[in-house]
Amino acid sequence: MARIIDGKRIAADAREALRLEVEGLRAQGVEPGLAVVIVGEDPASRVYVNMKRKACEAAGIASFHHALPGDVTEAELLRLIGALNGDARVHGILVQLPLPRGIREQRVLEAMDPDKDVDGFHPRNVGLLTIGAPLFPPCTPFGVMELLRVEGIDPAGKHVVVVGRSNIVGKPMALLLLAAHATVTVCHSRTPDLARVVGEADILVAAVGRPRMIVGEWVKQGAVVIDVGTNRLADGSLCGDVDFASVEPRASYITPSPGGVGPMTIAMLLRNTVLSARRRHGL
Ligand code: GUN
Repeated sequence: MARIIDGKRIAADAREALRLEVEGLRAQGVEPGLAVVIVGEDPASRVYVNMKRKACEAAGIASFHHALPGDVTEAELLRLIGALNGDARVHGILVQLPLPRGIREQRVLEAMDPDKDVDGFHPRNVGLLTIGAPLFPPCTPFGVMELLRVEGIDPAGKHVVVVGRSNIVGKPMALLLLAAHATVTVCHSRTPDLARVVGEADILVAAVGRPRMIVGEWVKQGAVVIDVGTNRLADGSLCGDVDFASVEPRASYITPSPGGVGPMTIAMLLRNTVLSARRRHGL
């Protein structure tokens, strides 16, 4: 029987702590602000963006919402980013990914003021993360590190297997874990005998986006299992990348999905926004 890591509760605690911190900042005349940019109609992105806005409001962070039509040009989007870079009320800028085809994602991320890049996706911030000095740790991997910290799980000296190599999760996750002195293996769709590699993990991080792909037989007895996946099934329900029913009996700790890593992503976005406001005002 695994201990279930309650990401919802841990995220709620983090958000409450941030709310109090923001109260203190407001008393000093600083109102942290986050600009959220969404392009197009992707329903999942809309849901995430709305959750981010609501979380801002609950924490006392000003949110500036910019919803652009799916056929907006790259030049128009870049103009908006430029305006937000110059807006003193905005301490954080988040452009929800993925962007519609025809807009070069890298071009947009590079246009952002790195000091407002609360997702940590600007190449300068990726570089700083790589050398172990991140300005803003990317929100989802940062949330995973926070879950491990709160649960008292130290990755130092452990073999951590990360399944997935995306720029948003897999790669930054590996870098944060390396900085925390783990031995890290990154696997992906071309890894032969994935089951064998997964079986070597003391801590397993699944971030592939394939429903219930990791099954119990693959997982070492007593492993810590972190499920970053949130997949929508044909019946409309959500599930993770980990087959919870078969993995939970073998794990020592496991995150549910939904209700594990997802809520932490939002809490860490707020944390980075508050951090950015503090830096801007020297507080
Ligand atoms: N799309 C999926 N995850 C994320 C995230 O953490 N940040 C942004 N901007 N877009 C995403």
